[in-house]
Amino acid sequence: MNSVIAVYPGSFDPVTNGHLDLIERSSKIFSRLFVAVLRNQDKDPMFEIEERLEMLRQTTSAWPNVEVDSFHGLLADYARRKEARVILRGIRAVSDYEYELQMALMNRKLAPQVETVFMLPAEAYSFLSSRLVREVARLGGSLRGLVPPPVEERLKNKFG
Ligand code: PNS
Repeated sequence: MNSVIAVYPGSFDPVTNGHLDLIERSSKIFSRLFVAVLRNQDKDPMFEIEERLEMLRQTTSAWPNVEVDSFHGLLADYARRKEARVILRGIRAVSDYEYELQMALMNRKLAPQVETVFMLPAEAYSFLSSRLVREVARLGGSLRGLVPPPVEERLKNKFG
């Protein structure tokens, strides 16, 4: 089989079990997977970039072909630098599709040799997002089973 390098970009603020489900599935398909955290984001993040990278490293260490990284600027340029043929994105519900379609087509314009591949997470995570995780954590709800233990721990430390 040809070796195919893929990039899985995102904010990962924080990584959820939905992200990890996708990483596990895709690690079985692609020869190498770069999980790439965007550095230059306008959003005010809950976790600093180094913390997000640390949580990703802690939770993806079981997969030898998965590498945690970060990038500045355009995703298309990053994918090119990594010689990736695939940008991987997760789609949960139809509502994700419009935004993802716009991004995929823009990325195709910027890097025609890179294909965006969409994958579905397990149904149990189809409602899960980092935004909801942040909200539930702020309001003191349980996130057991929705985020990995190191993330649960950090959220507990932040919000008590
Ligand atoms: O997890 P997110 O926040 O939905 O991820 C969005 C991300 C990081 C994939 C997207 O914002 C991105 O690729 N930003 C980099 C800048 C870029 O390349 N913009 C043009 C792509 S349409």
